[in-house]
Amino acid sequence: MARTITFCWGSALLFIYFVGFFLTPGEAALKTYQFDVKVTNVSRLCHSKPIVTVNGMFPGPTVYAREGDTLVVNVTNHAKYNMSIHWHGLKQYRNGWADGPAYITQCPIKTGHSYTYNITITGQRGTLWWHAHIFWLRATVYGAIVIMPKQGEGFPFPQPYREANIVLGEWWNNDVEEVVKQGNKKGLPPNMSEAHTINGKPGPRFPCSEKHTYALEVEQGKTYLLRIINAALNDELFFAIAGHNLTVVEIDAVYTKPFTTQAILIAPGQTTNVLVQATQAPGRYFMAARPFMDAPVSVDNKTATAILQYKGIPNSVQPVLPQLPALNNTAFALNYDENLRNPDHSVMPPPKDLPPC
Ligand SMILES: *[C@@H]1O[C@H](CO)[C@@H](O)[C@H](O)[C@H]1NC(C)=O
Ligand SMILES: *[C@@H]1O[C@H](CO)[C@@H](O)[C@H](O)[C@H]1NC(C)=O
Ligand SMILES: *[C@@H]1O[C@H](CO)[C@@H](O)[C@H](O)[C@H]1NC(C)=O
Ligand SMILES: *[C@@H]1O[C@H](CO)[C@@H](O)[C@H](O)[C@H]1NC(C)=O
Ligand SMILES: *[C@@H]1O[C@H](CO)[C@@H](O)[C@H](O)[C@H]1NC(C)=O
Ligand SMILES: *[C@@H]1O[C@H](CO)[C@@H](O)[C@H](O)[C@H]1NC(C)=O
Ligand SMILES: *[C@@H]1O[C@H](CO)[C@@H](O)[C@H](O)[C@H]1NC(C)=O
Ligand SMILES: *[C@@H]1O[C@H](CO)[C@@H](O)[C@H](O)[C@H]1NC(C)=O
Repeated sequence: MARTITFCWGSALLFIYFVGFFLTPGEAALKTYQFDVKVTNVSRLCHSKPIVTVNGMFPGPTVYAREGDTLVVNVTNHAKYNMSIHWHGLKQYRNGWADGPAYITQCPIKTGHSYTYNITITGQRGTLWWHAHIFWLRATVYGAIVIMPKQGEGFPFPQPYREANIVLGEWWNNDVEEVVKQGNKKGLPPNMSEAHTINGKPGPRFPCSEKHTYALEVEQGKTYLLRIINAALNDELFFAIAGHNLTVVEIDAVYTKPFTTQAILIAPGQTTNVLVQATQAPGRYFMAARPFMDAPVSVDNKTATAILQYKGIPNSVQPVLPQLPALNNTAFALNYDENLRNPDHSVMPPPKDLPPC
Protein backbone atom coordinates (compact mmCIF):
# COMPACT_ATOMS: atom_id res chain seq x y z
CA MET A 1 0.00 0.00 0.00
CA ALA A 2 0.83 3.70 -0.07
CA ARG A 3 3.39 3.49 -2.84
CA THR A 4 3.39 7.20 -3.45
CA ILE A 5 4.11 8.21 0.14
CA THR A 6 6.73 10.93 0.22
CA PHE A 7 8.80 12.32 3.03
CA CYS A 8 9.05 16.04 3.39
CA TRP A 9 12.00 16.90 5.63
CA GLY A 10 14.12 18.40 2.85
CA SER A 11 12.66 21.87 2.54
CA ALA A 12 12.39 22.47 6.29
CA LEU A 13 16.00 21.48 6.88
CA LEU A 14 17.22 23.52 3.97
CA PHE A 15 15.38 26.50 5.37
CA ILE A 16 16.86 26.15 8.84
CA TYR A 17 20.34 25.85 7.34
CA PHE A 18 19.77 28.91 5.18
CA VAL A 19 18.64 31.13 8.04
CA GLY A 20 21.42 29.89 10.32
CA PHE A 21 24.04 30.62 7.71
CA PHE A 22 23.22 34.20 6.87
CA LEU A 23 22.23 35.71 10.19
CA THR A 24 24.30 36.73 13.14
CA PRO A 25 22.63 36.13 16.53
CA GLY A 26 19.72 38.41 17.31
CA GLU A 27 19.45 39.97 13.88
CA ALA A 28 15.91 40.26 12.53
CA ALA A 29 15.33 39.20 8.95
CA LEU A 30 12.90 40.15 6.22
CA LYS A 31 10.91 37.14 5.01
CA THR A 32 9.09 37.60 1.74
CA TYR A 33 6.49 35.28 0.24
CA GLN A 34 4.40 35.39 -2.92
CA PHE A 35 0.92 33.86 -2.47
CA ASP A 36 -0.89 33.27 -5.76
CA VAL A 37 -4.52 32.50 -4.92
CA LYS A 38 -5.75 30.31 -7.75
CA VAL A 39 -8.03 27.47 -8.66
CA THR A 40 -6.46 24.02 -8.88
CA ASN A 41 -8.10 20.67 -9.64
CA VAL A 42 -7.63 18.29 -6.74
CA SER A 43 -8.81 14.71 -6.41
CA ARG A 44 -9.81 13.04 -3.12
CA LEU A 45 -12.17 10.16 -2.25
CA CYS A 46 -12.57 9.35 -5.98
CA HIS A 47 -13.89 12.89 -6.67
CA SER A 48 -11.99 15.52 -8.64
CA LYS A 49 -13.01 19.15 -8.24
CA PRO A 50 -11.55 22.63 -8.61
CA ILE A 51 -10.55 24.13 -5.25
CA VAL A 52 -9.14 27.53 -4.33
CA THR A 53 -5.49 27.18 -3.25
CA VAL A 54 -2.41 29.24 -2.57
CA ASN A 55 0.29 28.48 -5.16
CA GLY A 56 -1.65 25.35 -6.21
CA MET A 57 -0.87 23.64 -2.89
CA PHE A 58 -3.34 21.92 -0.53
CA PRO A 59 -2.63 22.67 2.29
CA GLY A 60 -0.88 25.88 1.27
CA PRO A 61 2.79 26.75 1.81
CA THR A 62 4.26 26.94 5.31
CA VAL A 63 5.45 30.39 6.34
CA TYR A 64 8.74 30.23 8.29
CA ALA A 65 10.14 33.06 10.39
CA ARG A 66 11.90 33.84 13.65
CA GLU A 67 10.56 35.97 16.46
CA GLY A 68 11.42 39.58 15.55
CA ASP A 69 11.46 39.00 11.79
CA THR A 70 9.33 41.01 9.39
CA LEU A 71 7.06 38.98 7.19
CA VAL A 72 6.03 40.49 3.86
CA VAL A 73 3.46 38.43 1.95
CA ASN A 74 2.22 39.65 -1.42
CA VAL A 75 -1.15 38.00 -2.05
CA THR A 76 -2.26 38.05 -5.69
CA ASN A 77 -5.83 36.93 -6.25
CA HIS A 78 -6.41 34.98 -9.49
CA ALA A 79 -9.61 33.30 -8.20
CA LYS A 80 -13.19 34.42 -8.93
CA TYR A 81 -13.86 35.26 -5.27
CA ASN A 82 -12.82 38.54 -3.67
CA MET A 83 -10.90 37.34 -0.64
CA SER A 84 -8.38 38.06 2.12
CA ILE A 85 -5.95 36.11 4.29
CA HIS A 86 -5.93 36.17 8.10
CA TRP A 87 -2.76 35.38 10.10
CA HIS A 88 -4.46 33.41 12.83
CA GLY A 89 -3.07 34.12 16.30
CA LEU A 90 -0.33 36.51 15.16
CA LYS A 91 -0.37 39.55 17.41
CA GLN A 92 -0.53 42.67 15.28
CA TYR A 93 0.99 45.15 17.72
CA ARG A 94 1.99 47.82 15.19
CA ASN A 95 0.58 46.35 12.01
CA GLY A 96 -3.13 46.11 12.64
CA TRP A 97 -3.97 46.68 8.95
CA ALA A 98 -2.26 43.38 8.16
CA ASP A 99 -4.60 41.23 10.29
CA GLY A 100 -6.69 40.20 7.31
CA PRO A 101 -10.39 39.61 8.11
CA ALA A 102 -12.36 40.87 5.09
CA TYR A 103 -14.51 43.95 5.84
CA ILE A 104 -12.92 44.30 9.31
CA THR A 105 -9.36 45.52 8.71
CA GLN A 106 -9.43 45.62 4.91
CA CYS A 107 -11.57 45.37 1.82
CA PRO A 108 -11.36 41.95 0.20
CA ILE A 109 -8.60 41.64 -2.42
CA LYS A 110 -10.47 41.82 -5.73
CA THR A 111 -9.96 39.28 -8.48
CA GLY A 112 -6.85 40.28 -10.43
CA HIS A 113 -5.50 42.49 -7.64
CA SER A 114 -2.74 42.16 -5.02
CA TYR A 115 -2.37 43.18 -1.39
CA THR A 116 0.87 43.09 0.58
CA TYR A 117 0.70 42.03 4.22
CA ASN A 118 3.58 43.46 6.26
CA ILE A 119 3.87 41.98 9.74
CA THR A 120 6.64 42.33 12.30
CA ILE A 121 6.47 39.29 14.59
CA THR A 122 6.65 40.63 18.12
CA GLY A 123 6.88 38.64 21.35
CA GLN A 124 5.74 35.34 19.83
CA ARG A 125 7.29 32.09 18.73
CA GLY A 126 5.69 28.72 18.10
CA THR A 127 3.06 27.38 15.74
CA LEU A 128 0.23 29.43 14.26
CA TRP A 129 -1.53 29.30 10.90
CA TRP A 130 -3.02 31.41 8.13
CA HIS A 131 -6.33 30.99 6.29
CA ALA A 132 -8.72 32.74 3.94
CA HIS A 133 -11.08 34.94 5.95
CA ILE A 134 -14.22 35.25 3.86
CA PHE A 135 -17.03 32.83 2.94
CA TRP A 136 -15.93 29.21 3.52
CA LEU A 137 -12.74 29.57 1.47
CA ARG A 138 -10.69 28.59 4.49
CA ALA A 139 -11.86 25.01 3.81
CA THR A 140 -8.99 24.79 1.30
CA VAL A 141 -7.01 28.04 1.66
CA TYR A 142 -4.87 27.47 4.74
CA GLY A 143 -1.33 26.67 5.86
CA ALA A 144 1.07 26.62 8.81
CA ILE A 145 3.07 29.48 10.30
CA VAL A 146 6.23 28.29 12.06
CA ILE A 147 7.97 30.91 14.20
CA MET A 148 11.32 29.77 15.55
CA PRO A 149 12.72 31.31 18.74
CA LYS A 150 15.17 34.20 18.29
CA GLN A 151 18.63 33.21 17.05
CA GLY A 152 20.60 31.70 19.92
CA GLU A 153 17.45 31.09 21.97
CA GLY A 154 16.42 27.44 22.28
CA PHE A 155 13.19 25.71 23.21
CA PRO A 156 12.40 25.35 26.95
CA PHE A 157 12.20 21.58 26.35
CA PRO A 158 14.75 19.09 24.98
CA GLN A 159 15.76 19.96 21.42
CA PRO A 160 13.89 17.55 19.11
CA TYR A 161 15.82 15.65 16.44
CA ARG A 162 13.43 16.89 13.77
CA GLU A 163 10.00 18.46 13.44
CA ALA A 164 6.95 18.15 11.21
CA ASN A 165 3.65 19.96 10.65
CA ILE A 166 0.42 18.01 11.10
CA VAL A 167 -2.38 20.16 9.67
CA LEU A 168 -5.85 18.71 10.28
CA GLY A 169 -8.64 19.70 7.90
CA GLU A 170 -11.79 18.57 6.11
CA TRP A 171 -12.80 17.50 2.62
CA TRP A 172 -16.18 17.89 0.91
CA ASN A 173 -16.80 16.09 -2.38
CA ASN A 174 -18.91 19.03 -3.54
CA ASP A 175 -17.95 22.67 -3.87
CA VAL A 176 -17.76 24.10 -0.34
CA GLU A 177 -19.35 27.40 -1.31
CA GLU A 178 -22.32 25.46 -2.75
CA VAL A 179 -22.51 23.39 0.45
CA VAL A 180 -22.73 26.45 2.70
CA LYS A 181 -25.08 28.31 0.30
CA GLN A 182 -27.48 25.36 0.26
CA GLY A 183 -27.44 25.15 4.08
CA ASN A 184 -28.17 28.87 4.41
CA LYS A 185 -30.99 28.70 1.86
CA LYS A 186 -32.69 25.88 3.78
CA GLY A 187 -31.94 27.43 7.18
CA LEU A 188 -30.14 24.20 8.11
CA PRO A 189 -26.57 23.41 9.12
CA PRO A 190 -24.50 22.84 5.96
CA ASN A 191 -23.79 19.25 4.93
CA MET A 192 -21.07 17.51 6.92
CA SER A 193 -17.69 16.95 5.30
CA GLU A 194 -17.02 13.58 3.67
CA ALA A 195 -13.68 13.16 5.47
CA HIS A 196 -11.22 14.75 7.82
CA THR A 197 -7.71 15.14 6.48
CA ILE A 198 -4.13 15.12 7.78
CA ASN A 199 -1.94 17.43 5.70
CA GLY A 200 -4.72 17.45 3.10
CA LYS A 201 -4.97 13.64 2.96
CA PRO A 202 -7.70 11.44 4.47
CA GLY A 203 -5.59 8.26 4.69
CA PRO A 204 -6.06 4.68 3.45
CA ARG A 205 -9.34 3.95 5.26
CA PHE A 206 -11.20 6.05 2.65
CA PRO A 207 -11.94 5.07 -0.97
CA CYS A 208 -9.25 5.93 -3.57
CA SER A 209 -7.04 7.21 -0.74
CA GLU A 210 -4.02 4.89 -0.51
CA LYS A 211 -2.11 7.46 -2.50
CA HIS A 212 -3.56 10.26 -0.37
CA THR A 213 -1.87 9.18 2.84
CA TYR A 214 0.62 11.31 4.73
CA ALA A 215 3.58 9.44 6.25
CA LEU A 216 6.22 10.71 8.65
CA GLU A 217 9.45 8.76 8.72
CA VAL A 218 11.09 8.44 12.13
CA GLU A 219 14.28 6.87 13.44
CA GLN A 220 14.11 4.70 16.52
CA GLY A 221 15.30 6.42 19.69
CA LYS A 222 14.86 9.96 18.36
CA THR A 223 12.42 12.64 19.56
CA TYR A 224 10.20 14.58 17.14
CA LEU A 225 8.30 17.83 17.53
CA LEU A 226 4.89 17.75 15.86
CA ARG A 227 3.25 21.10 15.16
CA ILE A 228 -0.43 20.15 15.07
CA ILE A 229 -2.97 22.63 13.69
CA ASN A 230 -6.75 22.20 13.61
CA ALA A 231 -7.80 23.83 10.33
CA ALA A 232 -11.16 21.99 10.25
CA LEU A 233 -14.15 24.31 9.74
CA ASN A 234 -16.00 23.63 12.99
CA ASP A 235 -14.97 20.30 14.55
CA GLU A 236 -13.04 19.83 17.77
CA LEU A 237 -10.74 16.88 17.15
CA PHE A 238 -9.02 14.16 19.13
CA PHE A 239 -5.59 13.17 17.78
CA ALA A 240 -3.41 10.23 18.84
CA ILE A 241 -0.64 7.97 17.57
CA ALA A 242 -0.85 4.21 18.17
CA GLY A 243 1.68 3.05 20.80
CA HIS A 244 3.14 6.52 21.35
CA ASN A 245 2.36 9.06 24.04
CA LEU A 246 2.33 12.75 23.23
CA THR A 247 3.98 15.36 25.45
CA VAL A 248 2.22 18.71 25.06
CA VAL A 249 4.74 21.58 25.23
CA GLU A 250 3.00 24.52 23.56
CA ILE A 251 -0.51 25.64 22.62
CA ASP A 252 -1.34 28.62 20.37
CA ALA A 253 2.31 29.79 20.42
CA VAL A 254 2.44 29.81 24.23
CA TYR A 255 4.68 27.33 26.05
CA THR A 256 2.92 25.07 28.53
CA LYS A 257 4.05 23.03 31.50
CA PRO A 258 4.84 19.79 29.62
CA PHE A 259 2.37 16.99 30.24
CA THR A 260 2.05 13.56 28.72
CA THR A 261 -1.16 12.17 27.30
CA GLN A 262 -2.31 9.37 25.01
CA ALA A 263 -4.45 11.76 22.95
CA ILE A 264 -4.84 15.49 22.52
CA LEU A 265 -8.02 17.50 22.03
CA ILE A 266 -7.72 20.46 19.68
CA ALA A 267 -10.36 23.05 18.83
CA PRO A 268 -10.75 24.55 15.35
CA GLY A 269 -8.26 27.39 14.98
CA GLN A 270 -6.05 26.05 17.75
CA THR A 271 -2.47 24.75 17.51
CA THR A 272 -0.71 22.23 19.77
CA ASN A 273 2.97 21.30 19.75
CA VAL A 274 3.81 17.85 21.06
CA LEU A 275 7.01 15.85 21.50
CA VAL A 276 6.89 12.22 20.37
CA GLN A 277 9.58 9.70 21.25
CA ALA A 278 10.10 7.00 18.65
CA THR A 279 10.82 4.33 21.22
CA GLN A 280 8.52 1.54 20.04
CA ALA A 281 9.46 -1.56 18.08
CA PRO A 282 10.24 -0.36 14.53
CA GLY A 283 7.02 -0.60 12.58
CA ARG A 284 4.19 1.43 11.13
CA TYR A 285 1.75 3.15 13.47
CA PHE A 286 -1.38 5.05 12.52
CA MET A 287 -1.86 8.63 13.64
CA ALA A 288 -5.58 9.36 13.72
CA ALA A 289 -7.97 12.29 14.11
CA ARG A 290 -11.70 12.19 14.85
CA PRO A 291 -14.13 14.70 16.40
CA PHE A 292 -15.21 15.24 19.95
CA MET A 293 -18.94 16.01 20.13
CA ASP A 294 -21.00 15.52 23.27
CA ALA A 295 -24.09 17.47 22.20
CA PRO A 296 -26.88 15.80 20.21
CA VAL A 297 -25.79 17.22 16.84
CA SER A 298 -24.47 15.35 13.82
CA VAL A 299 -20.79 15.68 13.00
CA ASP A 300 -18.55 13.98 10.49
CA ASN A 301 -17.43 11.23 12.87
CA LYS A 302 -15.12 9.40 10.44
CA THR A 303 -11.47 8.83 11.34
CA ALA A 304 -8.67 10.33 9.24
CA THR A 305 -5.33 8.53 9.41
CA ALA A 306 -1.67 9.09 8.56
CA ILE A 307 1.35 6.90 9.27
CA LEU A 308 4.28 7.17 11.66
CA GLN A 309 6.75 5.00 9.82
CA TYR A 310 10.02 3.79 11.32
CA LYS A 311 12.96 4.00 8.95
CA GLY A 312 13.55 0.82 6.96
CA ILE A 313 10.09 -0.67 7.57
CA PRO A 314 8.40 -1.69 4.31
CA ASN A 315 5.00 -0.33 3.37
CA SER A 316 3.61 -3.87 3.33
CA VAL A 317 3.51 -3.87 7.16
CA GLN A 318 -0.06 -3.14 8.29
CA PRO A 319 -0.25 -0.25 10.79
CA VAL A 320 -2.28 -0.47 13.99
CA LEU A 321 -4.90 2.13 14.94
CA PRO A 322 -4.61 4.17 18.15
CA GLN A 323 -7.40 4.14 20.71
CA LEU A 324 -9.07 7.53 20.38
CA PRO A 325 -11.44 8.73 23.11
CA ALA A 326 -15.10 8.09 22.23
CA LEU A 327 -16.89 10.79 20.25
CA ASN A 328 -18.82 11.88 23.37
CA ASN A 329 -16.05 11.45 25.99
CA THR A 330 -16.64 14.63 28.00
CA ALA A 331 -14.63 13.33 30.96
CA PHE A 332 -11.51 13.02 28.77
CA ALA A 333 -12.04 16.53 27.40
CA LEU A 334 -12.42 18.10 30.86
CA ASN A 335 -9.44 16.20 32.25
CA TYR A 336 -7.30 17.22 29.26
CA ASP A 337 -8.09 20.91 29.71
CA GLU A 338 -7.45 20.56 33.44
CA ASN A 339 -3.85 19.55 32.62
CA LEU A 340 -3.07 22.81 30.80
CA ARG A 341 -0.75 24.96 32.89
CA ASN A 342 1.83 27.66 32.33
CA PRO A 343 5.45 26.51 32.50
CA ASP A 344 5.64 27.84 36.07
CA HIS A 345 2.62 25.59 36.84
CA SER A 346 0.26 28.55 37.39
CA VAL A 347 -3.15 28.82 35.79
CA MET A 348 -3.83 31.46 33.11
CA PRO A 349 -1.94 34.77 33.46
CA PRO A 350 -3.99 37.92 34.01
CA PRO A 351 -4.47 39.92 30.80
CA LYS A 352 -1.63 42.37 30.19
CA ASP A 353 -1.84 45.83 28.69
CA LEU A 354 -0.58 46.09 25.13
CA PRO A 355 2.80 47.77 24.80
CA PRO A 356 2.55 51.51 24.01
CA CYS A 357 2.74 52.46 20.34
C1 LIG B 1 -10.09 21.19 -14.03
O1 LIG B 1 -10.73 20.12 -14.65
C2 LIG B 1 -11.76 20.50 -15.55
C3 LIG B 1 -12.52 19.26 -15.99
O2 LIG B 1 -11.63 18.22 -16.26
C4 LIG B 1 -11.14 21.26 -16.71
O3 LIG B 1 -12.12 21.67 -17.61
C5 LIG B 1 -10.42 22.49 -16.15
O4 LIG B 1 -9.73 23.17 -17.17
C6 LIG B 1 -9.42 22.09 -15.07
N1 LIG B 1 -8.96 23.31 -14.40
C7 LIG B 1 -7.69 23.55 -14.13
C8 LIG B 1 -7.39 24.83 -13.41
O5 LIG B 1 -6.80 22.77 -14.42
C1 LIG C 1 2.61 41.43 -5.97
O1 LIG C 1 2.47 40.52 -7.03
C2 LIG C 1 1.98 41.12 -8.22
C3 LIG C 1 1.71 40.02 -9.21
O2 LIG C 1 2.82 39.21 -9.34
C4 LIG C 1 2.98 42.13 -8.71
O3 LIG C 1 2.47 42.74 -9.86
C5 LIG C 1 3.20 43.16 -7.63
O4 LIG C 1 4.19 44.07 -8.03
C6 LIG C 1 3.62 42.51 -6.33
N1 LIG C 1 3.67 43.51 -5.30
C7 LIG C 1 4.70 43.60 -4.46
C8 LIG C 1 4.63 44.69 -3.43
O5 LIG C 1 5.65 42.85 -4.52
C1 LIG D 1 -15.69 41.77 -6.04
O1 LIG D 1 -15.72 43.10 -5.65
C2 LIG D 1 -16.09 43.99 -6.68
C3 LIG D 1 -15.91 45.41 -6.17
O2 LIG D 1 -16.49 45.55 -4.90
C4 LIG D 1 -17.52 43.70 -7.11
O3 LIG D 1 -17.90 44.54 -8.19
C5 LIG D 1 -17.59 42.25 -7.58
O4 LIG D 1 -18.93 41.89 -7.87
C6 LIG D 1 -17.07 41.31 -6.48
N1 LIG D 1 -16.99 39.96 -7.02
C7 LIG D 1 -17.64 38.92 -6.48
C8 LIG D 1 -17.49 37.60 -7.16
O5 LIG D 1 -18.31 39.03 -5.47
C1 LIG E 1 7.03 46.87 5.98
O1 LIG E 1 6.89 47.68 7.14
C2 LIG E 1 8.13 48.19 7.59
C3 LIG E 1 7.88 48.87 8.91
O2 LIG E 1 6.76 49.68 8.86
C4 LIG E 1 8.68 49.13 6.53
O3 LIG E 1 9.93 49.62 6.95
C5 LIG E 1 8.88 48.34 5.24
O4 LIG E 1 9.30 49.21 4.22
C6 LIG E 1 7.59 47.65 4.82
N1 LIG E 1 7.89 46.78 3.70
C7 LIG E 1 7.07 46.62 2.68
C8 LIG E 1 7.52 45.70 1.59
O5 LIG E 1 6.00 47.18 2.61
C1 LIG F 1 -26.19 17.79 0.89
O1 LIG F 1 -26.60 16.49 1.29
C2 LIG F 1 -27.80 16.07 0.65
C3 LIG F 1 -28.21 14.77 1.30
O2 LIG F 1 -27.19 13.84 1.26
C4 LIG F 1 -27.58 15.96 -0.85
O3 LIG F 1 -28.77 15.57 -1.49
C5 LIG F 1 -27.12 17.31 -1.38
O4 LIG F 1 -26.80 17.23 -2.75
C6 LIG F 1 -25.91 17.81 -0.62
N1 LIG F 1 -25.61 19.16 -1.05
C7 LIG F 1 -24.39 19.58 -1.41
C8 LIG F 1 -24.27 21.00 -1.87
O5 LIG F 1 -23.41 18.85 -1.36
C1 LIG G 1 2.02 6.29 28.04
O1 LIG G 1 1.58 6.85 29.25
C2 LIG G 1 0.88 5.92 30.06
C3 LIG G 1 0.27 6.67 31.23
O2 LIG G 1 1.20 7.54 31.79
C4 LIG G 1 1.85 4.82 30.50
O3 LIG G 1 1.16 3.87 31.27
C5 LIG G 1 2.40 4.16 29.24
O4 LIG G 1 3.37 3.20 29.60
C6 LIG G 1 3.01 5.17 28.31
N1 LIG G 1 3.34 4.51 27.05
C7 LIG G 1 4.48 4.70 26.41
C8 LIG G 1 4.62 3.99 25.12
O5 LIG G 1 5.37 5.41 26.84
C1 LIG H 1 -21.50 8.56 12.88
O1 LIG H 1 -22.36 9.32 12.06
C2 LIG H 1 -23.29 8.52 11.33
C3 LIG H 1 -24.00 9.46 10.36
O2 LIG H 1 -24.47 10.60 11.01
C4 LIG H 1 -24.22 7.81 12.30
O3 LIG H 1 -25.11 6.99 11.61
C5 LIG H 1 -23.38 6.95 13.27
O4 LIG H 1 -24.20 6.39 14.26
C6 LIG H 1 -22.31 7.81 13.94
N1 LIG H 1 -21.44 6.96 14.73
C7 LIG H 1 -21.12 7.25 15.99
C8 LIG H 1 -20.17 6.31 16.66
O5 LIG H 1 -21.56 8.22 16.58
C1 LIG I 1 -21.70 8.01 24.34
O1 LIG I 1 -22.17 7.35 23.17
C2 LIG I 1 -22.38 5.96 23.36
C3 LIG I 1 -22.68 5.31 22.02
O2 LIG I 1 -23.10 6.20 21.05
C4 LIG I 1 -23.52 5.78 24.37
O3 LIG I 1 -23.76 4.40 24.59
C5 LIG I 1 -23.11 6.45 25.69
O4 LIG I 1 -24.18 6.40 26.59
C6 LIG I 1 -22.71 7.90 25.46
N1 LIG I 1 -22.14 8.40 26.70
C7 LIG I 1 -22.53 9.54 27.23
C8 LIG I 1 -21.82 9.95 28.50
O5 LIG I 1 -23.39 10.25 26.72
